[in-house]
Amino acid sequence: MDLRFQQAPASDWQANTVLLFNFKDEEVTESIPNLSETIPWITITPAIQDAKGEKNQVTVAYGHPSIPLPRAIIVGLGDRKKFTLEVLREAVKTAALKCRELKVDTCAIPVETLDTIDEENTVLVEEAVSSVLIALHTYDEFKTTQKEPAHTPRWMALLSTEEYFPDDIHAAARRGEAAACGVNYTRDLVNAPANAITPAALAEKAEELGKKYHFKRTILGREEIVEAGMGAFLSVAAGSDAEPKFIVLEHAPKGTENDDPIVFVGKGVTFDTGGISLKPSLGMHEMKCDMGGAGAIFGLFEALGNSDIERRVIGITPCTDNMPSSTATHPGDVVKSLDGKTIEVINTDAEGRLILVDALTYAQREYKPAALVNLATLTGACVVALGAHAAAVFSTDDDLSKAITETGTRVGDRYWPMPLWDSYFETLKSDVADMKNVGSREGGAIHAALFLKQFVKEDVSWAHLDIAGPAYNTKGGATGFGVRTLLELVRKGV
Ligand code: BES
Ligand code: ZN
Ligand code: ZN
Repeated sequence: MDLRFQQAPASDWQANTVLLFNFKDEEVTESIPNLSETIPWITITPAIQDAKGEKNQVTVAYGHPSIPLPRAIIVGLGDRKKFTLEVLREAVKTAALKCRELKVDTCAIPVETLDTIDEENTVLVEEAVSSVLIALHTYDEFKTTQKEPAHTPRWMALLSTEEYFPDDIHAAARRGEAAACGVNYTRDLVNAPANAITPAALAEKAEELGKKYHFKRTILGREEIVEAGMGAFLSVAAGSDAEPKFIVLEHAPKGTENDDPIVFVGKGVTFDTGGISLKPSLGMHEMKCDMGGAGAIFGLFEALGNSDIERRVIGITPCTDNMPSSTATHPGDVVKSLDGKTIEVINTDAEGRLILVDALTYAQREYKPAALVNLATLTGACVVALGAHAAAVFSTDDDLSKAITETGTRVGDRYWPMPLWDSYFETLKSDVADMKNVGSREGGAIHAALFLKQFVKEDVSWAHLDIAGPAYNTKGGATGFGVRTLLELVRKGV
């Protein structure tokens, strides 16, 4: 869907449907100043009486079809005092889905309608634009018998009466658009089945992104991974004929090439059967989502390609599937990680941490990270702890943890801090190697985090985000969780 900007006297605005938002117990006309000048018919249409402003209440009002703005979709924002950006995102999503249902051809949001909301207009516009684009995105790649694709309006316009369309609002809308592009890119990758998104397919995607947006890329195949000595990563790929890929993308605009980069590392398990420690079959198909961390990094790079952020960013994604076979790692095998530490693989289903530690070592050897952040659908224990609505953040740096949590709240990704106390390492101790890959079941998400921490140098500002809960929903599929957080961390700088 195209994004347009109309700058004209209100009487000249053109769109098939206008999207309006009102607070509870406030008249639509009161919530939105100048409305009667903009859409005179709305003050006399009886439907307006129904728009009580209850959270997500939808009212559709019609003027005469010959009027340039003949229809309004009004969505309630609830209590004004309880307004948050989450409320706006939900309301905008509701409006967008109503546009789909009514097969609206073109829609528009008057920027002035946001003026009465107690938040910067630029922030509101960015959120509104991204929410519409995220709400209307569908994954239809493999549908061949569907009569027609889900309806999407041809364009959405932002309307302003100012003499020139305000530059800051224009930029905010483009930011929202770039963010949504990134989120939707991730959703497509994570929703794709494991026979379509193999490690090799991800390597091709990295090539494509690199060519399109001029990112440097380094891609190691099985032989090079062996040569490099990534024994922990290889132990996960051991059971599969599919070639593992260690993918590095670099965004380094002119002048930033020698800066200390922000380095992101993402778990790219394209399918997690559990390996020899096989998972139960019920629900196993959802383990196509186990490259959600890598997917978020690819989405970040898609968003960076559509932005003009002058910061050096590295994205590292170790990609493999986790399969049982005669060549697969046995429970009890000891493997040697890239940094030399040995690991007793007690459970081959705790594979994410094995591929991540070699990537974390690589990140610290090759770069001097200003911050090192990894994302992974790492543990079921984290889903038990926090459910589907929040990711856990484990960090050695309180400022970084706070930056992630606050940024996440602003863009709609929720994080909750969890501890990294060394006492939890007790159950990770091994009789035969430097450590085991699993600790006791209780506190499983913390054990996984503490395992990763063994591979992070003291002076590195590091955070681990366990996104197993929010990355993928049984009902709605992939969410693109994390993309907007990473994008804003890069924009703001950490
Ligand atoms: N990929 C899973 C974690 C996961 C669970 C992701 C639910 C998304 C939704 C991970 O590799 C895994 O299997 N972890 C095990 C670890 C255990 C063996 C210590 C788990 O959480 O059960
Ligand atoms: Zn697993
Ligand atoms: Zn996994």
